[in-house]
Amino acid sequence: MNTATALNTVGAKPLDFPIPANVHAETVVSVKHYTDRLFSFRITRPQSLRFRSGEFVMIGLPNAEKPVFRAYSVASPAWDEELEFFSIKVPDGPLTSHLQKIQPGDTVLMRQKSTGTLVVDALTPAKRLFMISTGTGVAPFASLLRDPDTYEKFDQVILTHTCRDVAELAYGKELVEGLENDPLIGELTHGRVTLYSTTTREESSHMGRITALIGSGKFYSDLGIEKLNPETDRIMICGSMHMLKDVKELAESLGFDEGSLSHPSTFVVERAFVG
Ligand code: A2P
Repeated sequence: MNTATALNTVGAKPLDFPIPANVHAETVVSVKHYTDRLFSFRITRPQSLRFRSGEFVMIGLPNAEKPVFRAYSVASPAWDEELEFFSIKVPDGPLTSHLQKIQPGDTVLMRQKSTGTLVVDALTPAKRLFMISTGTGVAPFASLLRDPDTYEKFDQVILTHTCRDVAELAYGKELVEGLENDPLIGELTHGRVTLYSTTTREESSHMGRITALIGSGKFYSDLGIEKLNPETDRIMICGSMHMLKDVKELAESLGFDEGSLSHPSTFVVERAFVG
């Protein structure tokens, strides 16, 4: 065990519990609440942390002798000096019921290793990259959409984001709007990113589950694009368990094959984590 004072970032509030070994103690920089179910936050980044855009890390709070850790996709790109996360608030969740109350200056714990399958190196190059997400599953795509490597490997990126209601779509909309004005990657992303937001429980311009919209062909006609084709396209999928299963089956029925770092191929899947 290290003592809190030894590892804690300068300027952070004092901690009640010592920091476990092999865990970084980072400081909350900002918090933004989107709805009563969703919020994002940014923390300082440990200098030693190296990760690939699209990967996840384990996050906890210094509120117990043995803190609860949950997997969180990093939503900021690998080049960013801070780390951003997009989280659900689960009322009785062992971590998120507390995490949703964090304020700038508070301490967040992070295990040292990052990992994950939603990385561009697990896919072979192609013309179009489809990122299919529900809820907080958009987080790893927020990282990948802000990473120049994504645009080196793919000409066009189509992000789909499906949520229950319109308010839950705000994070994804801000993300894509922000690309245009981003001094580092704005020029690179210009005209190459399409956002397709859909809702399932509230009226909006595109209603329905993405699986149904792809299945009916409405997705393609709404965007005026060619159908998914493993010859020209790659797919990344992140969201609720049921959505992953259904989109994976759909992709496989169209001839897509699941890739990994050791065997890059035409689609990859990661669940969005809740806790
Ligand atoms: P629905 O409202 O029809 O369940 P959640 O907030 O529960 O994580 O869900 C996020 C979004 O994912 C919701 O809009 C939900 O639609 C949608 N969803 C859930 N299951 C599936 C599925 N099997 N295929 C496609 N979308 C799904």
